[in-house]
Amino acid sequence: MSKNDRASSQPNGQAPGVPQSEPASFAEPTSPRPPLPPKPDQRTPADVSPTGCPFQIPLGGDGQQGEFQTTAQGTRVPTTDRSLKAGPRGPVLLQDHHLREKITHFDHERIPERVVHARGAGAHGVFRANGAASSLSRAQVFAEGEETEVFVRFSTVLGSRGSADTVRDTRGFATKFYTAEGVWDLVGNNIPVFFIQDGIKFPDVIHAGKPHPDREIPQAQSAHDTFWDFVTLHTEATHHTIWNMSDRGIPRSYRMMEGFGVNTFRFFNAAGESSLVKFHWKPRLGVHSLVWEEAQIAGGVDPDFHRRDLADAIEAGAFPEWDLGVQVFPDTEDQMFQGIDLLDPTKIVPEELVPVQIIGTMTLNANPTNFFEETEQVAFHPGHLPPGIDVTADPLLQGRLFSYLDTQISRLGGPNFSQLPINRPHAPVNDMFRDGMHQVGKHAGVAPYRPNSLDGGNPFIATEEQGARIDVPVPILETTITREQAVSFDDHYSQARLFYLSLSEVEQRHVTNAYTFELGKCYEQSIKERAVGVLAHIDQGLANTVADGLGLPHPEPQDTAEVTPSPALSQVGQKWPVQGRQLGILTTENSDPAAVAELVAAAFAADLVPLVIGESGGTLGESEVPISRTYTTARSVEFDAVVVADAPDLPEARVLLDEVFRHNKAAAVLSAAAAKAAELGLSTSGPGVVEIDTLAQAVEALDPLLATHRVWERELGA
Ligand code: HEM
Repeated sequence: MSKNDRASSQPNGQAPGVPQSEPASFAEPTSPRPPLPPKPDQRTPADVSPTGCPFQIPLGGDGQQGEFQTTAQGTRVPTTDRSLKAGPRGPVLLQDHHLREKITHFDHERIPERVVHARGAGAHGVFRANGAASSLSRAQVFAEGEETEVFVRFSTVLGSRGSADTVRDTRGFATKFYTAEGVWDLVGNNIPVFFIQDGIKFPDVIHAGKPHPDREIPQAQSAHDTFWDFVTLHTEATHHTIWNMSDRGIPRSYRMMEGFGVNTFRFFNAAGESSLVKFHWKPRLGVHSLVWEEAQIAGGVDPDFHRRDLADAIEAGAFPEWDLGVQVFPDTEDQMFQGIDLLDPTKIVPEELVPVQIIGTMTLNANPTNFFEETEQVAFHPGHLPPGIDVTADPLLQGRLFSYLDTQISRLGGPNFSQLPINRPHAPVNDMFRDGMHQVGKHAGVAPYRPNSLDGGNPFIATEEQGARIDVPVPILETTITREQAVSFDDHYSQARLFYLSLSEVEQRHVTNAYTFELGKCYEQSIKERAVGVLAHIDQGLANTVADGLGLPHPEPQDTAEVTPSPALSQVGQKWPVQGRQLGILTTENSDPAAVAELVAAAFAADLVPLVIGESGGTLGESEVPISRTYTTARSVEFDAVVVADAPDLPEARVLLDEVFRHNKAAAVLSAAAAKAAELGLSTSGPGVVEIDTLAQAVEALDPLLATHRVWERELGA
């Protein structure tokens, strides 16, 4: 379905978010009919069998069939509301199988949440390769013009499944490519480095970041003593920590995040030549963030902020896109590049030294049909690799290679989770694995072993020409068994400093505020003192300002590294497309419906998502312009910019406009409403607030302001 078909499939052509493919009737329907189809924006996992074969019978929606409710055994039931009883006043009889089956199934509806990255949102899409990587990797997924279906899951790391989306945290960015040569999972984050250099420390960093074990607070945040205790005693975490304290820790949207493979991987081409690579996802919409106050407000007013944003954008046809790129390094014996150890996951290689080469583009174009079946049950693994992509000896990656499969066996209830529809490869599977809990494969034959003669020798072993994933020999230097790590892993501070010095003034200010907030939430004085001591290794000014905020003495100055800033690390200073940005339109019952309708149409035409805010629900006045939000349900965090057609004298309108101003958002104010807007806190004399004579001018007036994401001058001038 094309983007335009989707946009026009919106009920009323208005804001996305309706719950079903058909409007609900007022009274409970009573005529039998088949189950409703998925909505136009939704897709189910592909119609393939557990072994990757295309199904004759479409699989989508096969979880339910027929007009009538049945038991799990397919027998129709006359009621599902009343238990079988000895007389109208009971007692309830044990022989009511439907009752016991229904309650038993319900009792087991939940599965364990992921130990990390429990909170997430998913989407289907497609990856198109441009061929630029085909000389580096023999993987078919990179062949020019090759299209591969994907499923992506974005996540936070620390929070439980029901926690808020907008907390300060790293975001997961995991992509499953259903390639013709088997599944490839690129399991990355929105931050290019990690807290630890060795997988054996993963339980420690997660125990420190999760809620305290005695009271189980705080939920989904790092602003507490155990996190800061760990990252300040364990200074290899310094670089990842400063990224979390920067605006990267509070993305505006999953659609506006970079993604990184973090660990270095290895490519092999058809000639067997290897290179080392780092993966980068570059969002076409640019990298944008919330401001901290917005993140906190959204945690309360809309804990599903990122999840909703992704689903609504896809439903509205504003399909998010990312270019996939690689930084390529020679596969030298020491696996270093200009003094940077490529096996140390706390280090980046600045893009100015090694540019990111774009090798394809991913478009997310469908929402899941069922969250549990798809987003919850999807299982990623950094070791799911087709021929042409391989791992390196990065000790963090090696730990990951063990961990994911192991945890999924308990999370997904046994060893057969690759047979769940969302996890099925789109390539033939003949693995000789048999039995186990929840086996759904229909295996024929008697000889699941090799060699055999009873099943005609099947399955056979493929050669490299027949597509086998060959283990290309990688030399290992002569060495001894040890628990030591390379000396090159000992530099914990220089790249944290590089990151800080690469940020613009406003971004540095946010970093300072974030450290001051987070450490201000700690109880232990010694941990705070230790933390500002660590900051002195990054930048003395940063350390001193945070110390001032905490009421601590300035730390001892430290020798800091000479670094060359990397402008690519800053999020400020460029212009980006405005597609999918949310426009709030403030109205009252006095607003001209025809002019507002024209503005809504112009906003849709510019690929913006207009949301009309009115004094009460329904439509604007006598017109057909639907009110998407009222002053009771609207909050500024939802909008990237606003148009003030008129504003009521309500406290909620005052809060809204005040936040629009304080959060550096662009606004267009109709001249006739300028005095009212100023009275409510949004003056047209401030930067980024433009006065317009007619609503028809609003989209054009806001476009250049939206393109820079926010009106940063307002914050710097403040
Ligand atoms: C480069 C560092 C790492 C990155 C980028 C990363 C990324 C991710 C992502 C994106 C997920 C969520 C997957 C999903 O959406 O289902 C995840 C889950 C997980 N990660 Fe990592 N991770 C890293 C390091 C580690 C390490 C060192 C370990 C253990 C040694 C680990 C263990 C896990 C586990 C157990 C899960 C839950 C998997 C599941 O239940 O399906 N991760 N990780």
